Amino acid sequence: FFQAEDGIRDYKVTGVQTCALPIFNDVGPRDGLQNQSRILEPSQRLQLINALLDAGLKRIEAGAFVSPKAVPAMAGAAEVFAGLPQRDDVCYTALIPNLRGYELARDAGVKSVCMVLYATDAMAHANVRMTSAQASAVAADIIARAAADGIRVTSTVSVAFECPFDGPVDPAVVCGMVTEFMQLGSDEVCIADTIGAANPVQVRRLMDELVASHGAERLSCHFHDTRAMGVANVYAALSAGIRRFDASIGRLGGCPFAPGASGNVATEDVHMMLSQAGFDTGVDIRALMRASELANQLTGSAPGGRARAWLSRQLDKAAADAA
Ligand code: COA
Ligand code: ZN
Repeated sequence: FFQAEDGIRDYKVTGVQTCALPIFNDVGPRDGLQNQSRILEPSQRLQLINALLDAGLKRIEAGAFVSPKAVPAMAGAAEVFAGLPQRDDVCYTALIPNLRGYELARDAGVKSVCMVLYATDAMAHANVRMTSAQASAVAADIIARAAADGIRVTSTVSVAFECPFDGPVDPAVVCGMVTEFMQLGSDEVCIADTIGAANPVQVRRLMDELVASHGAERLSCHFHDTRAMGVANVYAALSAGIRRFDASIGRLGGCPFAPGASGNVATEDVHMMLSQAGFDTGVDIRALMRASELANQLTGSAPGGRARAWLSRQLDKAAADAA
């Protein structure tokens, strides 16, 4: 692992990047907000989404069509979607747990949905009171409906490395699910470390195997920063050829049904790592830090990226130099 040039074979670390651009999907307005003690109004969630658009983000998970009893923070998702700026260059996604969620999303005019799959029965039960196989059958049905409705589908394999109830997950189970959902026609299959338990060696191994079987184009990764390995795991997946990443503004996040899960890897940390490594992410760091600040103001609990203090100091210095 990471012998010699292994991890950097496909781009120049110090020069201009020479491969497909990394694409961020900011899941802050969904994964991020669903676990905060303060519940935001749809108008506040739109404020956060607009700040992300100002920073140049092109993919945003804007909400979830879930039971408001199960996840009160996502109530009013249709209102959020109705208020989104119409932008041809931006893809807004909604998370859906079941067929009812799909129908509500479709009726709200959503063009891209994220359907959750479960690598373990215990996690499936905690989230949607189904077995993993039942949730997969629902997802397969939704993929067929979405094809007819012209809706894009991401199938997300949750707890792909470790389950808070069942422990470590066999990579063969995840590979089997990915093959199944690639064949069913998912536009994207996302590998999610829902509780932030993966390490970079595991990530590299699994993503190497998946990229060898399916190519990197339709694969993405979703990491949580619970054990401070979020950025390292993004790098491991990047080294395997993955270019699509979920991240959350201000390191907001955590699954209400997965004990011990903390925030997603911060969008600002991932941006910083990639841009310092020579990638053009298309993101404006000043505007991104404003969005992070706003996330903190609105929720009162966004920890911010791990590089928050350093990034803020650089921006203050640049502002002082300009004055
Ligand atoms: N959106 C809104 N309401 C929904 C819904 C959806 N996607 N799915 C079900 N409901 C409603 C039903 O209409 C019903 O409402 P009622 O009590 O007013 O009659 C109620 O929820 C219960 O429905 P039921 O089919 O019996 O499901 P359940 O009680 O087994 O709960 C879920 C399952 C899926 C509704 C619920 O657990 C859920 O929404 N979980 C979300 C999980 C999630 O978002 N996890 C975070 C992702 S990591
Ligand atoms: Zn998550």
